[in-house]
Amino acid sequence: MTAKIVVVGSFNADLVSYMERMPRPGETVHGDRFATGAGGKGSNQAVAAARLGADVTFIGRVGNDVFANLAYEIWDAEGVDHRFVTRDDEVATGVAPILVDSSGENMIVVVLGANRRIRKRDIDAARPRIAEADMMVVQLEVNLEIVPYALKSAKEYGVTTILNPAPAAAIAAETIQLADYLTPNETELETLSGGPVADVVAAARGLLTRGDQTAVVTLGAEGARIVTPEETHFVPTFAVDAVDTTGAGDTFNAALAVGLSEGMALPEAVRFANAAAALCVTKPGAADSVPARADVDALLAPF
Ligand code: RIB
Repeated sequence: MTAKIVVVGSFNADLVSYMERMPRPGETVHGDRFATGAGGKGSNQAVAAARLGADVTFIGRVGNDVFANLAYEIWDAEGVDHRFVTRDDEVATGVAPILVDSSGENMIVVVLGANRRIRKRDIDAARPRIAEADMMVVQLEVNLEIVPYALKSAKEYGVTTILNPAPAAAIAAETIQLADYLTPNETELETLSGGPVADVVAAARGLLTRGDQTAVVTLGAEGARIVTPEETHFVPTFAVDAVDTTGAGDTFNAALAVGLSEGMALPEAVRFANAAAALCVTKPGAADSVPARADVDALLAPF
């Protein structure tokens, strides 16, 4: 069964510098390599879901500039439906200068540009696609008022929702309540909880206000923890040599959406998502490093 997924979110042109180590404030260091690539959490999730086999519609905004061409190139190459992406003449496409060190860790500055101007009418135009979707995925790299509007539109049609609260931002409890699955990393969990987290399970439970909500907390190189109001389950990930962690969280969310939409049980879908994210970090780039479905399946069933 082909999963039908709608992603509402950002596109950024990623301007990536690779270096031995990050500069300290005021310091200049030499980079080894520079690359421009397709990024943005929303678009990365859309591309990843398509590459993992889903039928994907992306709703977002780009500028009328050369950086937007990177978006259309990758969407066309991966078969992402971009009919509901608006080109905005008044603001530039989002950009993200990114630094990656030799351990694969990154630092990112996002200049949202057109991503900040997604309109309710952009969501409304896509209602026929939303109505037939299995899943909607939304993140926070957009104007935050559009997030509950998008999630509500999905719930009106009984569509399952994933809210990936990235990048970290404080959002209203009413918005979190619209998420069937909430997928913070540990930093985002702290921001949502309003302070340092000593107990991931208790903190995640503190955010769930409906009995049928689930948090899936991503724990980097360790794996992910499933938390429901009553149960918790740790799903370890796969050991790999990390080259660039950019886009790993996006790939995780996309794979989770694909796995659940295809009918996998939650622990199986999280294992599938762990595998996809692990493969993503073995290659440089964001959308460019998303693995093919066959590679994820091979990692999950090597014999
Ligand atoms: O999650 C990775 C993404 O974050 C990058 O592609 C960059 O554009 C930023 O949005």
